Amino acid sequence: MITDRIEEIKAAVNEQLKKSSALQDVQDIRVKYLGKKGELTSLMKSLKDLSAEERPKVGQAVNSAREVIEGYLNTKTEELKAAVLAAKIESERIDITLPGRQPITGHEHPLHKIRREMEQAFLHMGFSIVEGPEIEDDYYNFQCLNFPDDHPARDMQDSMYITDKILLRTHTSPMQARTLQAHEPNEPVKVIVPGKVYRWDYDATHSPVFHQMEGLIVDEHIRFSDLKGMLEDFLREIFGPQTKVRFRASFFPFTEPSAEVDISCVMCGGEGCRVCSHTGWLEILGCGMVHPNVLRLNGYDPDKVNGFAFGMGVERIAMLKYGIDDLRLFYENDMRFLNQF
Ligand code: PHE
Repeated sequence: MITDRIEEIKAAVNEQLKKSSALQDVQDIRVKYLGKKGELTSLMKSLKDLSAEERPKVGQAVNSAREVIEGYLNTKTEELKAAVLAAKIESERIDITLPGRQPITGHEHPLHKIRREMEQAFLHMGFSIVEGPEIEDDYYNFQCLNFPDDHPARDMQDSMYITDKILLRTHTSPMQARTLQAHEPNEPVKVIVPGKVYRWDYDATHSPVFHQMEGLIVDEHIRFSDLKGMLEDFLREIFGPQTKVRFRASFFPFTEPSAEVDISCVMCGGEGCRVCSHTGWLEILGCGMVHPNVLRLNGYDPDKVNGFAFGMGVERIAMLKYGIDDLRLFYENDMRFLNQF
């Protein structure tokens, strides 16, 4: 009987769908039963062999079976699609409870940090920042600064020469001459000059390349007490308000009078310790009133204006401020060192 066959087909489809786990299986079952050569389709084709009386009834039964089977297939298809989606969601799940990965960001090198602090202190006092060439002429490095011909720094052994007259600057002071020459005669100047300088030295406190910061003020009626007050303010800003400052007579060819400036030891506060060689003091910079010859050599009139200048090593300031005992650490790029700043 055709009607029995219909029931068998429905049951078979149901059975096979239960076992299938992939969309392709469902598609195969669809073809097998409802496709052009499918089993239900061939039942439909066999209707023509039935009597006119039976044909509509059986035809209706086949059609409704087709709808039922389509319903099974569609339901199974939806189920499988949902399962595929759920599996995809599960496999792509992000565990938001895991801590994020911190990107490694760089930070300022301790030498830049101290240089910036030093610059800030001087900018607040009204200085401007200028920079000059590291490859310098003997003329600016020595001659314009009143160095005598036989000064030891002019010796090939102490400075790095490129030719007889061209060398790597040994200090930032040539910018004193360049700055004065760049101005109208007797025009006031107030600048600091940060930058690299070069000397033939290498040990725990000396590097052949290091940094200095120069300062120069020229104007009418500048007094030594202006120099003292300004440097005291600067040093207390960098090393703290408790810092004591002392001036000792010294000599530089380009300043007169000249002084070496000491601060009370940052380690022992002046008691005396290994760092300050038990003196309680640390030498920190050189300074003085601009030598009249320097003014003259660079187009200024020492009878009309005067000024002061100072120069200090940036590494030395950083070493004392941060308690670093070997200057070479600044250049070795050891992250264990750098990450402390
Ligand atoms: N140029 C001097 C040095 O390198 C420092 C200095 C600068 C001294 C300005 C006095 C005035 O030692």
